[in-house]
Amino acid sequence: MGLLRQFLGNPRQIGSIAASSRHLAARAVSSVDLRGVTQIVELGAGTGPITREIVRAADPQARIVAVELNSALAEQLRRVPELSRVEVINRSAAELLEIAKELGLNSVGAVVCSLPWTLMSSEDQHRTLDAVCELLKKGGSFVTLVTTPTVWLPSGRRVAALLRSKFEVVERSRPILRAVPPMVLYRCQV
Ligand SMILES: C[S@@+](CC[C@H](N)C(=O)[O-])C[C@H]1O[C@@H](n2cnc3c(N)ncnc32)[C@H](O)[C@@H]1O
Repeated sequence: MGLLRQFLGNPRQIGSIAASSRHLAARAVSSVDLRGVTQIVELGAGTGPITREIVRAADPQARIVAVELNSALAEQLRRVPELSRVEVINRSAAELLEIAKELGLNSVGAVVCSLPWTLMSSEDQHRTLDAVCELLKKGGSFVTLVTTPTVWLPSGRRVAALLRSKFEVVERSRPILRAVPPMVLYRCQV
């Protein structure tokens, strides 16, 4: 099942008609150094293109948790043999703190995210980012993708301002053109 089908059923939840390309997913994951990272969280895993890259790049012993709100997509992810080591959690990223407590995550070194930020409520944005900041180890990284047209719109500027209000360091990549639509990556550290 592709992302498009789920998008047609719930466009505001899914936020994109197409899954990330391999190139985009690899760019997102390679922007964080996963060597030595023992706990990795992905937010908004969808059909799993970024999850696959995380599995390729992560240390063999690292724990990988993927949070996906859409139950059909979460179920599909659980059935992918290549992703069998990933713990797929069918809940909202806004519940990340509760999820982390339940799973005993206490040393998260990287959070990779492709949530549809501008379509989320302000409360969910704050809860998600506050949880990321609380869970990330010092020196850990949070990376998130945002579509380029959005970056320059008021809703996208609000997301950028929110990131800057929560993290010590916020870096924005140049537009990644080998993606439809082109994307930018924010890399943030607490
Ligand atoms: C733009 S898609 C990206 C999917 C995939 N990571 C990719 O790169 O192709 C966003 C994904 O985030 C999920 N999502 C939306 N809101 C969410 C939330 N609050 N918590 C967890 N997942 C959410 C959607 O169901 C969708 O699968």
